[in-house]
Amino acid sequence: MQQDPQFSRIDWVASGCRLLKGIAAEFARTQPFAGLTIGTAIHLEPKTAALLLTLKAGGARIVATGNLNSTQPATAAFLADNGIAIIGEQTRNAGAHHGFIDALLDEKPDLLLDNGGDLFARFLERPYDGLIGGTEETTSGRTRLAPLRERLARPIIVINDSPIKQFAENRHGVGQSLFESFLRFTNRSTNGKRVLVFGYGACGKGTAACFRQGYSAVSVVDIDPVTTLEAHLDGFSTPHRADAIRAADVIITVTGHPGIVTAADLPLLKDGVILMNGGHFPHEIDRAGLIANPAVASVASSPEDGIETIVLADGRRIHLLAAGHMANLAGPRPLGNSIEAMDLGFAMQARCLERVAGRTLGADACLVPVPADIDRAVAGAFLDLNR
Ligand SMILES: NC(=O)c1ccc[n+]([C@@H]2O[C@H](COP(=O)([O-])OP(=O)(O)OC[C@H]3O[C@@H](n4cnc5c(N)ncnc54)[C@H](O)[C@@H]3O)[C@@H](O)[C@H]2O)c1
Repeated sequence: MQQDPQFSRIDWVASGCRLLKGIAAEFARTQPFAGLTIGTAIHLEPKTAALLLTLKAGGARIVATGNLNSTQPATAAFLADNGIAIIGEQTRNAGAHHGFIDALLDEKPDLLLDNGGDLFARFLERPYDGLIGGTEETTSGRTRLAPLRERLARPIIVINDSPIKQFAENRHGVGQSLFESFLRFTNRSTNGKRVLVFGYGACGKGTAACFRQGYSAVSVVDIDPVTTLEAHLDGFSTPHRADAIRAADVIITVTGHPGIVTAADLPLLKDGVILMNGGHFPHEIDRAGLIANPAVASVASSPEDGIETIVLADGRRIHLLAAGHMANLAGPRPLGNSIEAMDLGFAMQARCLERVAGRTLGADACLVPVPADIDRAVAGAFLDLNR
């Protein structure tokens, strides 16, 4: 029997992205992006490689950079070897990241595939002719770009606002992935732990459910009383914020908003508490404010494990994972969301970019949800592959 020593995680992921494989074969015939350049700023990890090669099969020239922190060097090198122009490298430095965004926009892409709004927001500050439109992947990007809608004035489809993205990726994908990340970072048991989830949107629902299935006692704090009622009726405890923090062994933020856990919470945090973020930007847990607080005696860190321990003058120890970056795309051997979840989301990306490239949508399609016919086609294709 022959062994293939070259078989890598990228190959494993590509073989699991069965929807993308079918779309790539179709695009190779139909060439929807012939003559077009697609610029993207999205996590450069193996699932994204499958998406970018699918778009390339459709005739696109691709210029790609990552999001803050989440670029995986092996994926970036693989893509460069496969004809994708890679800009930048893994960085946590916001200034360096903005430089990469500018270098990408210098290429004047015809379509943008954005994740978090970095590309479209910066495009408005330094516009160029010829941008047809594109897609935005996530909740935080949609929130950031919504006030800019009038000025963007071109078709931008928000992948996040598809029911499939909501339940397949944000709920099931992020929930499983943050649970896996907690185990991967800490090697601690989840059994009997008091886990507090901030935010009961799609990501929070999945996270709360996965930790409950991991035998944790899960509480939920959401700023919206209607959503909090839903968490209550789903069987989670919903204490007042301060009580919830005082009791928690693990605190997970998935709100998409800044300053969810700050230095003002230091008096409440339990000795040994573990803080972890799943929201897009690393601002939900205010790491800088926590560390700068006069109550802090020292900070110990193990960079390769992605764990920092903040030791308070009164002896309490607070552990922060991945410096508050999205834990499922950080730390040792980050895997991100499951292959199936991302295959579904990225199949919608490919179909939506195809729709925008077809120039049938106008400025009124700026920041609109995935068209229902694309939702139905992607759902049907996934079911057909799994029956
Ligand atoms: N880690 C990943 O792989 C991944 C994947 C998808 C989305 N995301 C990100 O996760 C975040 C959440 O996404 P979502 O789709 O669940 O968003 P959502 O808008 O559906 O839910 C967010 C919830 O947080 C609540 N909230 C807002 N401010 C709060 C506060 N101060 N305290 C408590 N609750 C508060 C809101 O009421 C809402 O219920 C976003 O940043 C999104 O971009 C991450």
